[in-house]
Amino acid sequence: MPILRWIRYTAWTALAVIAFVVAAIVLGWWRVDGPGAPSRPAPTASAPIDVGGPFSLVDHTGRKVTEADYRGRPMLVFFGFTHCPEVCPTTLLEITNQLKALGSEADRLQVLFITVDPERDTPAQLALYLQSFDPRIVGLSGSVEGVEAAVKAYKAYAKKIPAEGGYTMDHTASVYVMDAQGRYRTLIDYHEDEQAALAKIRLVLK
Ligand code: NI
Repeated sequence: MPILRWIRYTAWTALAVIAFVVAAIVLGWWRVDGPGAPSRPAPTASAPIDVGGPFSLVDHTGRKVTEADYRGRPMLVFFGFTHCPEVCPTTLLEITNQLKALGSEADRLQVLFITVDPERDTPAQLALYLQSFDPRIVGLSGSVEGVEAAVKAYKAYAKKIPAEGGYTMDHTASVYVMDAQGRYRTLIDYHEDEQAALAKIRLVLK
């Protein structure tokens, strides 16, 4: 009975295809970062990620600035606050060490420390705080709305958390590496190995 045999073959084939599709969905094979997929490559020069954008803030000397003031210079952008007990001082110290390691190579680099706590971090408070770090680091504050807009432009995170004696801020701990055209290139993670961090900074200094 060739017809019956053909039907049986077709049924088995259809069953195999359905089983494969179900397995692919369950195991997430179609996803780039699914199990079994190669680990996701680090963002590269061509990463088309829409991070960064316009901001209107005040620097630690009291000067009104926008992103246009830094165009033409590669940037490291870090969000934090001066009352931060650990992440911010550690990161600013690491950036200070990276700038030292880069020497004059880093002169073209613009490091921006944008406060997520403009209520307490006035320009004067930022100026005082930044005395402990590399003098090339610029602190930015501004209105609550201005800071919120900057956080949003960088797709960063900042949240006020009630704490003993008032409040603390939860915030993105990574450093944004931006090229001279203001385009996002990559992130330096909290406590990233110094050589890896330097390699990322050199990406935008070239
Ligand atoms: Ni912090």
